[in-house]
Amino acid sequence: MTASAEQDNGESTTDTSTAEIAVYWQEEEYYHAPDSFIEQANLKDRDVFKRFALENFPDYYKEFSAMLDWYQPWDTLLDSSNPPFWRWYIGGKLNASFNCIDRHLDIHKNKAALYFVPEPEDEPIAAITYQELYVRVNEMAVYLQEALKLHRGDRVTIHMPMVAELAVTMLACARIGVIHSVVFGGFSAQACADRMVDSDSSVLVTMDGYWRDGKWLDHKEKADETVRLAAEAGHAVDRVIIFGRYPGEYRSKCQLVDGRDILINDALKAYDGRRVAPEHMDSNDTLFLMYTSGSTGKPKAAQHSTGGYLSYVTAMSKWILDIKPEDVYWCMADIGWITGHSFIVYGPLSLGASSIIYEGVPTCPDAGRPWRVAQRLDVNIFHTSPTAIRSIRKVGPDEPTKYNYKFKLMVTVGEPIEPDVWRWYYKVIGKADAAVVDTWWQTENGGFLCSTVPALDPMKPGSTGPAVPGIHPVIYDEDGNEIPEKSGKGGNICIRNPWPGLMLGIWGDPDRYVATYYQRYCRDATSKDWRDWPYFAGDGAMQAPDGYYRILGRIDDVINVAGHRLGTKEIESAVLEVDGVAEAAVIAASDEIKGVIPEIYVTLQPGVEGTGSMRQKIVDVIVRDIGPIARPRNVWLVPDLPKTRSGKIMRRVLASISNSKDTGDVTSLANPEIVEAIRKTVSR
Ligand code: PRX
Repeated sequence: MTASAEQDNGESTTDTSTAEIAVYWQEEEYYHAPDSFIEQANLKDRDVFKRFALENFPDYYKEFSAMLDWYQPWDTLLDSSNPPFWRWYIGGKLNASFNCIDRHLDIHKNKAALYFVPEPEDEPIAAITYQELYVRVNEMAVYLQEALKLHRGDRVTIHMPMVAELAVTMLACARIGVIHSVVFGGFSAQACADRMVDSDSSVLVTMDGYWRDGKWLDHKEKADETVRLAAEAGHAVDRVIIFGRYPGEYRSKCQLVDGRDILINDALKAYDGRRVAPEHMDSNDTLFLMYTSGSTGKPKAAQHSTGGYLSYVTAMSKWILDIKPEDVYWCMADIGWITGHSFIVYGPLSLGASSIIYEGVPTCPDAGRPWRVAQRLDVNIFHTSPTAIRSIRKVGPDEPTKYNYKFKLMVTVGEPIEPDVWRWYYKVIGKADAAVVDTWWQTENGGFLCSTVPALDPMKPGSTGPAVPGIHPVIYDEDGNEIPEKSGKGGNICIRNPWPGLMLGIWGDPDRYVATYYQRYCRDATSKDWRDWPYFAGDGAMQAPDGYYRILGRIDDVINVAGHRLGTKEIESAVLEVDGVAEAAVIAASDEIKGVIPEIYVTLQPGVEGTGSMRQKIVDVIVRDIGPIARPRNVWLVPDLPKTRSGKIMRRVLASISNSKDTGDVTSLANPEIVEAIRKTVSR
């Protein structure tokens, strides 16, 4: 059976609306969570779906705010009088650092809040208890207040590697109402400077250096460069606060600048034992900014609230990630991305769990590293991305079987996961004994939009699942017509209703917020009714007859071949079924007759030979799984694919090579050298 309402007959049609993505993906089999998981799950009451039905909106979101401690309860649940600027839990006052730390002290002060796992394996793992976190956050908060004179509403930029001090600094900001803007540690000085300018922040918190893939990286260099570039743009950075990767030492080669640079480990000694009462923040005060790229223009900052955001991530951590205080939870994302904010720091700590911060590359020094960490710390919830799963599989397909750990739940996020990769995740990493959730959401959303509820819904490889309780999606075609529910037809996925985790707006640019997320499908720009304002996610998706959504990728990741749109992920998924293939990326190559034709870039598993017959097998499987419409123009067997520092495959760069265009600046990639090597292969 295919999920598609349209069957491919191999011919192009001229009457296919460009909005309608023909989906040729095979349906997959269901898997069920083990009874041992279901028995202990946080959410096993099927009644939740009734309570969270659209007719009960917005009342059902009372359940989420009840998971937090408030200084003052809210009086209005949702203010929707100024669409699309929704405001939740009006009148409520709370503090995020109190909810993530103080409220656990009575019962859990001696348990680990954070484990810092250094990349060098001979360095000890540091367990930071809730009491210790309380002490460090307080001292840092007093320092920010007294020494730097920072006040509620000021912005602080944090450009740090994956270390516990990053979480401490975020929570210290939250404690005194300072808005944090964390810039991913792998980003360049230019990116950091742009964000400092945009958020008008004059304090930069950084670290002298860190370990990555066995190498010591001098990070302070980037801070100096950031200050210089910000100054060029007319923006003064007054203070650079530097943590020592080895507290008490300064291991950077860069000179300290008098009056500007502060070695914070030394400075904090004067604040020993100091405490500060958490600021009573309004529910709609901004907790943090998180920059994300749009399809065009400069990065924009999603501005997340205190009450709505924290309620949402707490509920999602409890219901979808099944986090409990006794769990040891490891999310391999970077805190510099939204996944790390929501699901390394705020969600797990709000629930009193132990959350792991791992400094380096998962496969350093070898492919067994993640499983040694899991075994040693007895990790029982594991959270990662399809790209990480594919690269872990590539370097160590049998490694997980050699270690003794047991996950109750595993998470995937960030991109569509190919069913073949999903099955490997479930069977080999999960030992076929864990629940898996495929969570679809975005920086702008705070927390999940679609996922199975792990104890209630079966899993289906390659599908994110139905919407999470409270979220009500709709799929539109290009003209704004609703695509019938469960029809298997693709279109643009939107969310009918507002929800508490949705950003407050884009920092300093309300018009861009409206234009990017609402203009496309707003039914009446003068309407005060939230029903007229569906949220446009920018992803293609289809809903199968069982109600599960399959995300086809960003709208611009969809290839339109002769009037048929094909999700790049569908093709990649087919290619991954071929034995010996490690990774695949599909791009749209221009074609005079058909508009575009797919081209495939493939890396092979170690020891597999790149032959003509391998190329033929790949073509055959695409034609078999999807149809002649998807037959690629070329299959390029390459040693590696260009990737960002966060591991996303840069299909744009590959498309430029295929289309003989300039690739633009590739120096910020994790592996810029591969671009030239691929170009040579392709031009031969
Ligand atoms: O295209 C979707 C994809 O990642 C985009 C959001 O990226 P970002 O804001 O960086 O946030 C990533 C982590 C939440 C989405 O528009 N995406 C995210 N999760 C999934 C996904 N695509 C398919 N399946 C997912 N589970």
